[in-house]
Amino acid sequence: MTQRTALVTGGTGGIGSAIVRYLAKQGHRVATNYRDEAKAHAWRDAMKNDGIDVLLVSGDVSNPVACETMAEAIASKLGPVEILVNNAGITRDTTFHKMTYEQWTEVVNTNLNACFNVTRPVIDGMRNRRWGRIVQISSINGQKGQYGQANYAAAKAGMHGFTISLAQENARFGITVNTVSPGYVATDMVMAVPEEVREKIVAQIPVGRLGKPEEIAHAVAFFTGEDSCWITGANLAINGGHYMGW
Ligand code: CAA
Repeated sequence: MTQRTALVTGGTGGIGSAIVRYLAKQGHRVATNYRDEAKAHAWRDAMKNDGIDVLLVSGDVSNPVACETMAEAIASKLGPVEILVNNAGITRDTTFHKMTYEQWTEVVNTNLNACFNVTRPVIDGMRNRRWGRIVQISSINGQKGQYGQANYAAAKAGMHGFTISLAQENARFGITVNTVSPGYVATDMVMAVPEEVREKIVAQIPVGRLGKPEEIAHAVAFFTGEDSCWITGANLAINGGHYMGW
């Protein structure tokens, strides 16, 4: 199998860690960014104990200049980014009539504008080399909306608009661009939803449980695989049957 250089943004988080692990176990050279240095180093040590080496690069995905520096740092240590997973994301849940401008912009900057910031510095290289894999980690709530998530749902829906445009522009260059839309997965982000609200949400999932991060990583690895070269512009829902739009 060809070993590639992969960047998974937000790799130290719940779903991100599983994606990093999966791609590294496939033999790829994997990098992720961090904002909190102490947390990131502790995370890298834990990964190392499991036999997984990850390059950590400092950088906030909501900052376009930091993302250019990040791409250069990865290129100099591991080679240019060939697989990009735009995974970093945050929530600032509240009903819209109470939402502040900061809660809106923080979420849009980190979840959606980051797709521009992180992808723009690596797309020319992918086009020149005639090979690339880009995956956006969106959300079930970008597909169906969610009470208390006007900011998050708007950003996550926007990510797929980004996917399908980029997919068209870059198909001739051997670059595929796809979206994975996870449902409610057992991560710190979902566990932060008040328990009584979460229980009601889980009751709506036909499979009857929260997802596991590895179940999302599996789908990402499917899209990034060498053989997935004719799959582009897709949005794969992985949500235990919670939302079955088509
Ligand atoms: N539909 C209709 N009405 C609802 C509702 C819903 N889904 N949820 C709450 N309401 C109603 C309540 O019944 C309540 O009505 P009354 O005032 O008549 O009793 C009213 O709205 C206010 O509800 P809350 O008390 O919950 O309001 P709050 O301001 O304290 O909290 C909230 C609002 C922050 C949105 C809270 O309900 C919440 O956290 N909801 C979960 C949001 C969510 O699913 N976030 C996902 C995070 S994980 C993630 O984002 C990952 C991913 O991609 C899936």
